[in-house]
Amino acid sequence: MQQRENWGSRLGFLLAAAGSAVGLGNIWRFPYLTGENGGSAFIVIYLVCVFVIGLSIMIAEFTVGRRSSLAAVGAYKSYSRNWTFVGVIGVLSGFLIMGFYPVVGGWALAYIIKSVSGLLTTPDAIGDTFVTFISGSVQPLIWMLVFLALNVAIVAKGIAGGIEKASKILMPTLLVLLIFIGIRSVSLPGADAGLKFLFSPDWSQVTGQTFLAALGQAFFSLSLGMGCMITYGSYLNKEENLAKNATIVTSLDTLCAILAGIAIFPALFAFGMTPDQGPGLVFVIVPSIFAAMGSAGVFFSTLFFIALAVAALTSSVSLLEVVVAYLIDERGMPRKRAVYSASGVMAVLCIMASLSLGVTSHITFLGVGAFDFFDILTDKIFLAVGGMLLAIFAGWVYKKEDLKDELTNGGKVQFGLFEIWYALIKYIIPIAIAVIAFMGIRSIAQTGLMIFGLLVIAVLAVFSKKL
Ligand code: PHE
Repeated sequence: MQQRENWGSRLGFLLAAAGSAVGLGNIWRFPYLTGENGGSAFIVIYLVCVFVIGLSIMIAEFTVGRRSSLAAVGAYKSYSRNWTFVGVIGVLSGFLIMGFYPVVGGWALAYIIKSVSGLLTTPDAIGDTFVTFISGSVQPLIWMLVFLALNVAIVAKGIAGGIEKASKILMPTLLVLLIFIGIRSVSLPGADAGLKFLFSPDWSQVTGQTFLAALGQAFFSLSLGMGCMITYGSYLNKEENLAKNATIVTSLDTLCAILAGIAIFPALFAFGMTPDQGPGLVFVIVPSIFAAMGSAGVFFSTLFFIALAVAALTSSVSLLEVVVAYLIDERGMPRKRAVYSASGVMAVLCIMASLSLGVTSHITFLGVGAFDFFDILTDKIFLAVGGMLLAIFAGWVYKKEDLKDELTNGGKVQFGLFEIWYALIKYIIPIAIAVIAFMGIRSIAQTGLMIFGLLVIAVLAVFSKKL
């Protein structure tokens, strides 16, 4: 058997895992969800989802991954063949998320160039420019392919050489940029309204959907529920303290989301704009904000989109890696071939997703176009259900001693909260996710999509033993 790859260093793993977590989810999606869901009340619910459910699941994913030294599918399969399907749902989620993620990554790349080539000189046209740009049939596709090509280049180089090295440089750059833009944003006159929007809760807008949105966002943002952290954990050496690493990654991810909020909302309110702009939020508001700052704005806007592209890249490589690791571990493919074939399929999905925002917008399935289909199916269904199944797997199928042994490195490190974590994983989290999903289904527009997603999972469960 081939020698299994490992992370080159402790810091390398941390940065790569944090790099996976911190991405478009934090900088593109978190602000617009916060804006749509009424601000700080959503943030409070999100934080509870992150630190109670998300952190516990991340610990479980690292544990299951390192114990098996196998990527998502193998980690389940090696323990119980009946559970293989949960790993397969993860690989499927990886494909589907990579069916729209590189589209948005491509927008970020395009906006680096647009920022320096005159976008900011006509502030009134920024909104129209975005709509025209994303609904085009050529430009967004080219940028998406460039973004995907960057992924291929990094993942083809393997774990320590590619993903780890890129993350080591790109992640700290991102943090510095976010802090920098945040300071600029809060120092604008009239910024307090944005801080109030972010930090003083208004519960009147909270519905069942808010909870599902917050839960889905917690999973998406922390890269959970699809075997990504199982896969990254499987490359981790036996000396690492899993609970501590999970806590650091979760905190860093949350810090970046809040920093993105601080970078955007104070400035947004300072300029008298409204927060509920949807997915165009960062692409329309940020350049508009910076357009009002004169020539320095060009510089800040460019920096912001570099940060966004960087964050997207370190996340999408982890998504690609989940699929690639499956092809290497379970299908015996050499790494390069796995990378090329996986990304080829992803490119096709991305073309569908990108065109669904323009020329093919009339083609819908269960009421949504390809872009929203991939997005909603993964974020609101597969990740949440995948997380729930992982919790049930760890709590009810895995032996408690095995979990304890792995989490304490065979008794060498302490994990004082083990019993609390175990109770959360075994009882509280599966029930909480089921309740939140149910509340969300009752009030969600795309019930058909929900049912479709659950059917896919059921079919996979039935046929999993053949996989
Ligand atoms: N966490 C990433 C983000 O916030 C997206 C992601 C989801 C990456 C699932 C890997 C797995 O952008």
